[in-house]
Amino acid sequence: MELLGMYPTWYDPTLGSGWVLGVIAVIHVLASHTSVGAALVFAWLATVAYRRQRPELLEYVRRYGVVLLVFSYVLGSITGPGIWFSATVASPRGISALIHSYVWVWATEWVFFVGEVVGIYALVYLANKVDQKTHLNLVRFFAIASWATMLIIVGILSFMMWPGQPAWYDQGGTLNGFYGPYTFGQVITRTAFMLMCAAVVGGIVASRIADADFRNEMARKLAVLGIVAAVVAFLGLQWTLGTLPEHAREVMAVRLPAWFVTSLWATFGGIIAYFALTFLVPRVLSPWLSVAAAVAVMVFGIWPEETARESMRKPWVAGQYVYSNQVIGRDVPALGVQSDLPALQARGMLASHPFVPEGLRQVTAANQAEAGHALALIYCSNCHNLGASGIRPLGNLTAGMDEAGLAGFISGALATGAMPHMPHMPMSDAEAGALAHFLKR
Ligand code: HEC
Repeated sequence: MELLGMYPTWYDPTLGSGWVLGVIAVIHVLASHTSVGAALVFAWLATVAYRRQRPELLEYVRRYGVVLLVFSYVLGSITGPGIWFSATVASPRGISALIHSYVWVWATEWVFFVGEVVGIYALVYLANKVDQKTHLNLVRFFAIASWATMLIIVGILSFMMWPGQPAWYDQGGTLNGFYGPYTFGQVITRTAFMLMCAAVVGGIVASRIADADFRNEMARKLAVLGIVAAVVAFLGLQWTLGTLPEHAREVMAVRLPAWFVTSLWATFGGIIAYFALTFLVPRVLSPWLSVAAAVAVMVFGIWPEETARESMRKPWVAGQYVYSNQVIGRDVPALGVQSDLPALQARGMLASHPFVPEGLRQVTAANQAEAGHALALIYCSNCHNLGASGIRPLGNLTAGMDEAGLAGFISGALATGAMPHMPHMPMSDAEAGALAHFLKR
């Protein structure tokens, strides 16, 4: 029997694997974005401090650096590998696709990342111990290394959405995959967004400055930075959305909730209002207010943004050839990758998946519910909760259909790949019947 190269399925019945990954990623994004944005802010402040001989600005940079070390770097270093672990079990073939195309790019990113870590330590612990010019160079080195890590990761994230050039499928080539119209929009949007995160988190450090005049000056500087960065991020986002493939826009229209655009505007308005307040009345900047603002950015800014980005590329998880449920949905001649669909059409999933128990390979009257359960886990659980709660619960989505109607929907629409927001999921009639039986048991 010929088996496909599939892995066991990780199913989390309460949150769903996607959300587990999402929660880890949102914390990581706040930590990493703040750090990259702060690195750029440090380079600016250190240059001003050096030119105008203002040691208090350098002291601010050093204290902010300590906060980054304790929070961003600890949280970032825990959640970074956390993303790797959870993504690897949630989507082994998606990660495999990225590694096969980008292992050297990732290695390059690691070099910059190591530079970044060395940079932040040097910046904090060598302040006032080396001469000013050397310190300034260290701060600039930290900024360049930090921004470079972001640039590289964004190229890989863009590829996950859509390979840069269509020629990539036939010719391969790292740069064909890496550089697409979507890459540059995202670089600008993220850079601006990072500066905004740095301005919000920088408020926590600024609120603790003892000298009132200097504290107000920093509050205002950060407010101006925050407003400019938020506007650029917002415009950058519009541009990025304009470069998306038609397919992504269709999927977005189906998947994003109706309130999404309103909430985007509300978040943008809230950010501008917050910075306007701290600019006009800088003394209101307190540790609590700025911590609350940072949490709000995470909950109302990063979470919707990351989930929208994840949503747009569905039903694919990587390069528009690996489906979210790990099935390879198209040939990639450049990599020698072949679509799984013909094999699935010929034999069905139960006979093709290496981790299906032997007793379930053929659907029988006795094993119908169990075989249906296996199919639901393999084919559907990446996007749907199998019960009546959680993400897109199949219990609710199928509530209006009886078992025969559902079996018809599965073999008519899902098994033929007729729904653009769901993968093409070939199944024999017996498998469709078993799946419907399980879902309606
Ligand atoms: C790539 C993710 C993905 C996979 C895998 C997936 N679905 Fe869906 N499914 C969706 C989305 C998105 C919707 C739209 C509804 C929503 O967003 O709440 C949906 C909707 C549905 C609906 C409601 C009808 C409709 O078209 O809106 C049913 C029924 C359904 N899915 C069944 C299944 C079954 C059964 C499987 C497994 C054989 C499956 N889906 C696999 C993403 C997926």
